[in-house]
Amino acid sequence: MESKKFKRIGVLTSGGDAPGMNAAIRAVVRSAIYHGIEPVGIMRGYQGILDKRFIGMQSHSVSKIINKGGTMLKSSRCPQFKEAGTRVQAMENLREAGIEALVVIGGDGSFRGANALYEEFDFPVVGVPGTIDNDIYGTDFTIGFDTAINTAVEAIDKIRDTADSHNLIFFVEVMGRDAGFIGLYTGIATGAEQCLIPEYHTDIDKLCSYLTNERRKNKTSGIIVVAEGEDAGSAHEIAQKVKEKLPHYDTRVTTLGHIQRGGSPTCNDRVLASVLGNGAVEALMRGWSGVMVGQINGDITYTPFNQACTKHNQINKNLYEIAHILAL
Ligand code: ADP
Ligand code: F6P
Repeated sequence: MESKKFKRIGVLTSGGDAPGMNAAIRAVVRSAIYHGIEPVGIMRGYQGILDKRFIGMQSHSVSKIINKGGTMLKSSRCPQFKEAGTRVQAMENLREAGIEALVVIGGDGSFRGANALYEEFDFPVVGVPGTIDNDIYGTDFTIGFDTAINTAVEAIDKIRDTADSHNLIFFVEVMGRDAGFIGLYTGIATGAEQCLIPEYHTDIDKLCSYLTNERRKNKTSGIIVVAEGEDAGSAHEIAQKVKEKLPHYDTRVTTLGHIQRGGSPTCNDRVLASVLGNGAVEALMRGWSGVMVGQINGDITYTPFNQACTKHNQINKNLYEIAHILAL
């Protein structure tokens, strides 16, 4: 196996922040130092390469961040990175700073940028999946998902108290962009009456007959979890449609929003981020590039960017069916 020695590698966080990104940065920095490589932090994702915002990192630079949400390197969406000319400039800036390889912590959009650097310039890049959405192919879980679902569960449990006390039907919207992982997991964990997720079609008539069925007919409270990207519309729109058909129901809508992106990462996210951050540096040392490090069934795996960017993590159909069976 080829073993590669880099003098200096860069690390950045890109796209939406996710709890555990700091733990991943820490793992990259410390693993690099362990191997005698100089780690360089790049501020604000790809924008920081363009702005030459490079900062030298020592072991102590990442002290006491493992428990912190957000990202110490900050993140950004940098639309101009989609243009080839911008990437030529980025490549020049990286070379000028002596950065010989890159670890990109982010979602599939960020990996498209990383893949472009790898394919266009043969530049060594490894990706680490950091997003609350859990939608990335090539890993069972992404960094941040576990924290996000725990935050959402805590919030929905509180909403349940009010729903029960006042006989309300709550439509609670959770994040996920176009993926239903947060919706499904939080729906099951909170005993929601229904989880509406983009992967499955929602029929408003069926939803209404569920709410008024024999077993539920004396119940006027309930939680319907609505994942972002749902085909029947937003939680507000679905609540409106239900209200039109069942006007005697008192409905409320809560959109959990960005509270799902913040907060101290859970133990699972910290461990996953530590393992994957280390796995990214190990890959570079072995001369592997153009890949995303993931964890499947407990094993560290490396998936080519062109698959990680184009395929999607699939919702477990069995889990979806269980959610329905248990909500009878
Ligand atoms: P995420 O990484 O969380 O999916 P985005 O989709 O916003 O977030 O992508 C983050 C950043 O990655 C974008 O702002 C842009 O800088 C870069 N990026 C996304 N898609 C591409 C692409 N097709 N080519 C080059 N860079 C891209
Ligand atoms: O990808 C993470 C995520 O929080 C999605 O769940 C959501 O659709 C999106 O980012 C929100 O992005 P922004 O913070 O730019 O509104």
